[in-house]
Amino acid sequence: MTSFAHPYTRIVGTGHYLPKNVMTNEDVEKVCDTTSQWIIERTGIEQRHFCEEGESTADMAEAAARNAMESAGVEAGDIDLIIVGTSSADYGSPSVASMLQHRLGCNTICAFDVSAACTGFIYSLGVADSMIKAGTATTALVIGAERISQYLDWEERNTAVIFGDGAGAAVVKGSDEPGILSTHLHADGSKKDSLFLNNGKPVYEPAERANKVTMDGQDVFKNAVKRFSEVIDQCLTANNVAKEDIDWLVPHQANIRIIQAVQKKLAMKDDQVVVTVNKTANNSAATVPIALDIASRDGRVKPGQLVISAAFGAGLTWGALLLRF
Ligand code: UT7
Repeated sequence: MTSFAHPYTRIVGTGHYLPKNVMTNEDVEKVCDTTSQWIIERTGIEQRHFCEEGESTADMAEAAARNAMESAGVEAGDIDLIIVGTSSADYGSPSVASMLQHRLGCNTICAFDVSAACTGFIYSLGVADSMIKAGTATTALVIGAERISQYLDWEERNTAVIFGDGAGAAVVKGSDEPGILSTHLHADGSKKDSLFLNNGKPVYEPAERANKVTMDGQDVFKNAVKRFSEVIDQCLTANNVAKEDIDWLVPHQANIRIIQAVQKKLAMKDDQVVVTVNKTANNSAATVPIALDIASRDGRVKPGQLVISAAFGAGLTWGALLLRF
């Protein structure tokens, strides 16, 4: 589709989907050498949602997308770009985005997945923002969707207890009014082993790593706090914005202690930080859009407010964005 460039990209609707099946920490105690108390104290997580057998990443992405389209008041025919951030796509190909193009009944538009693990939604939004500003698209569906449960090994207790399934979505449109003010995206492949999802046959990797996610929790934790701090500084400086000007922090939800470290850096009050990790656990690429949708639907994040979001994950990847909601 040929369109004309817009100076800005705005989020005009959000949505999310969490599977009905809830696994509490008490349920986790039955399958894993852990305690509910340890999980709450070290992560802030109380429960997570897991897909039913047969429920796919594309199913969750579709539900979140329809929810966001309804909130934005857009029809399938209005959309000219679909980007899905995921590291748990149902197939190597087709992409989840391609399946969505068909399921939603969109025209033969550009549709692709972005693999940036927990930073997948911020990466995807950054790409959509650039394409809209370049005039390649006018209305994009940007989604984070993850079915990480299929890769959890309950013997890997420091990894398995933190994850959950889910999907979040945003409809973004070209606009003459400020919306997304900037995105900042980074990666460091030298740290690939710190957080690793081997989603296929272990052709190049030891057999024990096949089809599961493994993590050096402490290393990831330290790097997350460091990179969040750097990228938030970069984002504030690029926009000449003081931390006091920010209304809301909508961070990646991996561990309440990481969120609190970012909150402290920004000197933000508890009622300026969106926390969902207690109820959703870590949905990887889906955490940021799920949190944004929950906080916008319950009236906390209001139109016109200044929102900063940052995420960190496997790759390693990290990123931040500042937006006028
Ligand atoms: O979203 C992508 C990015 N991911 C993250 O940001 C995750 C970052 N990492 C973390 O959130 C934390 O490192 C974890 C929650 C994964 C682990 O918490 P921790 O406080 O760093 O624990 P640890 O690995 O330092 O282990 C402390 C102790 C150890 O026991 P000893 O050696 O002190 O006796 C572990 O064996 O806790 C033990 N432990 C557990 N105990 C009960 C580790 N996992 C568990 C568990 N239940 N699930």
